[in-house]
Amino acid sequence: MSKAKHPQTLAIRGSKEQTHYNEHNQALFLTSSFMFDSAADGAALFNKTKAGYTYSRTANPTITAFQNRVAHLEKAEAAVATATGMAAIQAALLTFLNAGDHLISSRSLFGTTAGYLEGHVTRFGIDITFVSQTDISEWAAAIRPNTKMMFLETPSNPLGEVADLGALAELAHQHGILLAVDNCFCSPAIQQPLTLGADLSIQSATKGIDGQGRVLGGVVCGKAELIQQIALYVNSAGISLAPFNAWVLLGGCETLPLRLRAQNQAALALAQWLQQQPQVEKVYYAGLPENPQAELVRKQQSGGGSVLALEVKGGQEAAWHIIDHVGIFSKTANFGDVKSTITHPWTTTHGRMSAEAKQAAGIKPNLIRISVGLEDLEDLKADLAEVLAQLPV
Ligand SMILES: Cc1ncc(COP(=O)(O)O)c(C=O)c1O
Repeated sequence: MSKAKHPQTLAIRGSKEQTHYNEHNQALFLTSSFMFDSAADGAALFNKTKAGYTYSRTANPTITAFQNRVAHLEKAEAAVATATGMAAIQAALLTFLNAGDHLISSRSLFGTTAGYLEGHVTRFGIDITFVSQTDISEWAAAIRPNTKMMFLETPSNPLGEVADLGALAELAHQHGILLAVDNCFCSPAIQQPLTLGADLSIQSATKGIDGQGRVLGGVVCGKAELIQQIALYVNSAGISLAPFNAWVLLGGCETLPLRLRAQNQAALALAQWLQQQPQVEKVYYAGLPENPQAELVRKQQSGGGSVLALEVKGGQEAAWHIIDHVGIFSKTANFGDVKSTITHPWTTTHGRMSAEAKQAAGIKPNLIRISVGLEDLEDLKADLAEVLAQLPV
């Protein structure tokens, strides 16, 4: 077991002990199945009296290495990888929720998550109450005898609203409820929800962990006892991560803390610069010192993250003008990438939500979401300045 404690070392060395042929870089085990020495050996592997690999939907050495690496970063006992971030959310929820159970969720959610909860989870006889991300009294009032889980993302996509994980964990645990947290806006490099009291920390590894927009992936971290149950669900539902994606994501882990450190700084500087632009009505960034939640952010996160949002004067037309005319920012919905990205949540990431649901979550037609990458900050500012100058103030 590695003696390292610091994220940058854990990101690179966290699972060094798990090599199979002394390979310096984790090898890619691109195989769907593993052979047994005999029929009895196969039986022993399947009934788990012998440790080993059988089939890559169940387990694969490259995926195991990735899971262990993320578990180190999240300060978790265990992790289970999934095909996507949405698969990680599905697995975390459906492993523990049964027909007749009740889920409390923040209403400040990524649009696809909101659609999944309302459009699919409810089809299985699971009741959901949506509450404010920040008002603990709403969470407390929503608790019922059959409430099994509380779910939220912090900071939320796209407005960066932060939930008080310590307070919510205390409330949840008083009632025997699990607290599941989507940690993908921060990544484990800057926030470890389990250390703040959450039971499950969920990642879309597609975002910061990859960091270079190559593959999809997800991971759920928590106590070994919970993760074992989720791993069984992932295996049965067939929503496992592909070994190739695990291998790519392992590489992403190695530069994650360094990337996030630089992205935190650049995102803060860009948010502060945007606040001074007359065409900008409001900037949302968890790391802003004047953010009313700044103290909570400092307690929970070691940085504001790479994503900010801004409301511009001139409504959707002005927002679209900016998106259409920037030269460096990629027009795409992904975030946490080394390439800066720009998107219009109202019509893309949150487009499936009703206008009322978007308004309730604070998402307006004049909102733009920016993920700050690793390009030179002065180039990013100049790109935005040129387009902002084309808009009325
Ligand atoms: C907050 C949040 N959670 C989960 C997801 C889903 O991740 P994936 O696209 O890997 O399924 C996303 C995707 O954008 C997201 O923004």
